[in-house]
Amino acid sequence: MNSRRYREEVYSMEELKDKAPRLFGIPSGVEGLDNLFFKVEIVNGKSIKKPLGGYPYLAVLNITGVADTGKSLMAEQFAVKQASLGYRVLFITVETPREFLVQSLRARAAAMNIPIEKVERNIFIVDAASNAKLREEVDLLLDTMAYAIREFDINSVIIDSITGLYEAKEVLARSIVRRVYNFLKKWHQTGLLVSQKRSASEELTAEAAGGYGVAHIVDGTIVLYKKLIISRYDMQTFNLPIGSVIRLMRIDGCRMTGHDTRTYVFEITDTGLVKIISPLDEYIKRK
Ligand SMILES: Nc1ncnc2c1ncn2[C@@H]1O[C@H](COP(=O)(O)OP(=O)(O)O)[C@@H](O)[C@H]1O
Ligand SMILES: [Mg+2]
Repeated sequence: MNSRRYREEVYSMEELKDKAPRLFGIPSGVEGLDNLFFKVEIVNGKSIKKPLGGYPYLAVLNITGVADTGKSLMAEQFAVKQASLGYRVLFITVETPREFLVQSLRARAAAMNIPIEKVERNIFIVDAASNAKLREEVDLLLDTMAYAIREFDINSVIIDSITGLYEAKEVLARSIVRRVYNFLKKWHQTGLLVSQKRSASEELTAEAAGGYGVAHIVDGTIVLYKKLIISRYDMQTFNLPIGSVIRLMRIDGCRMTGHDTRTYVFEITDTGLVKIISPLDEYIKRK
């Protein structure tokens, strides 16, 4: 029996005590979102909630929703915000070719009142939208990402969308997401994975988000949803005119930290910024 080899696979908690990352938030660039993540501290025997002030550092989060719900805007806002703070972001674009992503990032920076120079200096782009090999060969993509992370000292990685990496091979969804997840952990990255929600059923849950089971792999999921006010019932419930749209957001689980579990109303401003307004129940009461 090779007990030395087995011993290598068993850790005492004590030998890991300095390895656990500190829990804090990194700004999301989305107004109203940062304080929905919190940690609980025990002070004098009482537990108090302390807002994290952003996405949990080193978390790999999944932003999901059907088309046109604001996923890409949130991904871009995070990229621009982090870049403005001097952190390096790697943006893997899988749907939008790089020229168009740059145009969109510029628009986001302008809307957020952030000087473009800082953003340009700190955002790096891998264009898997234009290069089919990067999209189809996970090894090649991960090697390219490893190169970029090392070479440019990257802190956060965004993939918009992870779903685009297994378009015609849904059965591989879990294994691809697992590999990307492990990769981001190994390379010490905070990750934002955008995934397309297939089904409109179970709308405000991670069900069918980015392929079945993806939500179980990542550290947490944010679900975006838009509801068309079309029935008398909706009109009365939401107190909104027929034909209007209400946008809703929920943090559907985050295993790294505490989080608000309510459903929130958000808007997409004219300049294209996702902005949280208030919890749905308060919104309805106020109307
Ligand atoms: N100035 C703007 N720029 C971009 N999108 C805007 C703007 N103003 C409003 N929007 C809305 O935001 C939506 C884009 O959301 P997006 O993040 O691209 O969706 P997805 O969830 O498909 O990634 C558009 O369909 C549009 O309805
Ligand atoms: Mg998108």
